[in-house]
Order: sequence, then C-alpha cells, then structure tokens
Amino acid sequence: MSLPAEHFDDIYAREDDPWGIEHGWYEERKRACVLAALPRERYARAFEPGCAGGALSAGLAGRCDALVCWDPVTRAVEAARARLAEQGHVRVEQAAVPARTPDGTFDLVVVSELVYYLDADDREAFWRVVEDALRPGGHLLAVHWLREAPEYPVEGAAVHDELASRSAFARTVRHEEADFRLEVYTRVPPAPRSVAEETGLR
Ligand SMILES: C[S@@+](CC[C@H](N)C(=O)[O-])C[C@H]1O[C@@H](n2cnc3c(N)ncnc32)[C@H](O)[C@@H]1O
Repeated sequence: MSLPAEHFDDIYAREDDPWGIEHGWYEERKRACVLAALPRERYARAFEPGCAGGALSAGLAGRCDALVCWDPVTRAVEAARARLAEQGHVRVEQAAVPARTPDGTFDLVVVSELVYYLDADDREAFWRVVEDALRPGGHLLAVHWLREAPEYPVEGAAVHDELASRSAFARTVRHEEADFRLEVYTRVPPAPRSVAEETGLR
C-alpha cells in the first residue's frame, strides 16, 4: 500500500520539520546537488510534487518561468505558500500523486524523496503521468535516500532501477553516494543531448 496522506498529516502534527529539511548541512547540500545537476539554466514550466515546506521549491523557482508545487499536507502547503508568497510565478496546491494529474505539460519534473512512498500500482500510474506531462526533450530529476527505510513500500534504489527500465526516459545524469542517488532523465524521443551539445560547445 502507498503511504496515505494521513500518515504524513500525523508526522507533521508531531514535528514542524520532520525530515530536518529546513536545518542542516545534509539537506542543504543535497538541494545544491539537485540544482547543480539540472542540465538547463532555465526551464519554462516545472512540476514538483511532494514539495513539503518549499525549501527545494525556492531554489527551483529561480530557474523556472513557472513552477507548480504540490503536497497533500495542509501544514506543508501553508509553509510552502508563506515561503514562496513573493514569487508570483509559483503555485502551491494541496494535492497528491497519482490521485491527481497536473494540468498541461512541463519541461521539468522534480521528484525529491517522494516515489518510495508509492506502491507498485501507484508508481506505474505516476510514471505514466510524468511520461504524458513531460514535453519531448524535457527532464525528470529524481533523488532518493538509499539507506534502510523498512516502513516504505519500496527502497530508493529500486525506484531508480525502475525508472531506468522505462523506454520513455533516457538517463543523462547520474550521481550516487552512500546516502542518495540523484538522476536526470530526458523524455525521449528526440535523442537526449549533453549539456555541451545543447550549449554549442561541441
Ligand atoms: C521527505 S519529504 C520531501 C520534501 C521535498 N521534496 C524535499 O526533498 O525536500 C516528502 C513530502 O512528500 C509528501 N507526500 C507524501 N506522499 C505524497 C504523494 N502521494 N503525493 C505528493 N506528495 C506526497 C509529504 O507530505 C512530504 O511533505
């Protein structure tokens, strides 16, 4: 079973910052890795489900012309809205994947510490949503914790292995260390181009 929204409501009822996202070098550095790994300097329209209090969203907002952020938990949505209130191009909504499908298309989807909460059926539904929503040549960035989390339906490594097996995506960035794996996939076709190719260096 996917972990339901009530599970996350309970977590947020006990703590303001359940995963230490707001304070601490580990998460701050991981966000820097995420932003550095994005192959394009700018994106037209990005989608970030599971945004929590918007710590990563704030960094993504600086790279996108429009950003849609979702979280199912009221407390998280309120915190993200407060943080991003001055950013008119960012919309924060209370919603969960794959129960709801985002409107329109995107050239960037970011899933950070999210997909291991979904069971196999929900992951399959979610990947299909992302495949449909990503424009050709668009990017999917996924980053997940690799250490043990027995209460999750699936391990982080398995999420990334599953993603690698999908023919609609070609991996263009891979970063792995003891704690997390970070990958960027390009929606194909067309064939993916490297950053050097896209920026005219070769
Ligand atoms: C570990 S936090 C990650 C936050 C942020 N993505 C980051 O990496 O800093 C996971 C967030 O995903 C949200 N979440 C859980 N299940 C979800 C679902 N099915 N759809 C969207 N968000 C979900 C939780 O409420 C929580 O805020």
